[in-house]
Amino acid sequence: MIPIRKNAEWWNLSKEDRVALMKEHTIPTVAYFKTVKRKLYHSTGLSDVDFLTYFETNDLGEFNDLVIALRMVREDTFNVQLGEPTIIGTLKNWDEIVDLLVK
Ligand code: HEM
Repeated sequence: MIPIRKNAEWWNLSKEDRVALMKEHTIPTVAYFKTVKRKLYHSTGLSDVDFLTYFETNDLGEFNDLVIALRMVREDTFNVQLGEPTIIGTLKNWDEIVDLLVK
């Protein structure tokens, strides 16, 4: 889970300009559709960040490549917070959790 905050310049762009920049954001992500599942939560006004991005993957190397690719698009220059903290965990079902607790 990676919290993200954008600067005022971003929010002052026209909707059309923001959509154009988000298209640039989406292009490099296509290569990761099969290995990275994502969910985007909007948190402007609810938290001190604008977005909580959530991802699931079995391949952290692929995920690292994805993040590096997105750090190179123009949209990234509007980010004033990306991560810090980044929260990492593993999905476990109830039986697996009980097994871990009794060990
Ligand atoms: C498979 C990977 C990814 C895909 C397919 C993807 C695609 C998209 C798309 C289509 C949007 C537009 C809003 C929506 O339809 O949800 C979006 C928004 C966004 N994405 Fe990604 N993305 C990916 C990975 C990432 C990563 C790794 C980050 C940052 C760590 C990220 C950060 C964001 C943020 C902050 C927004 C909202 C930006 C805004 O509206 O101002 N995305 N993404």
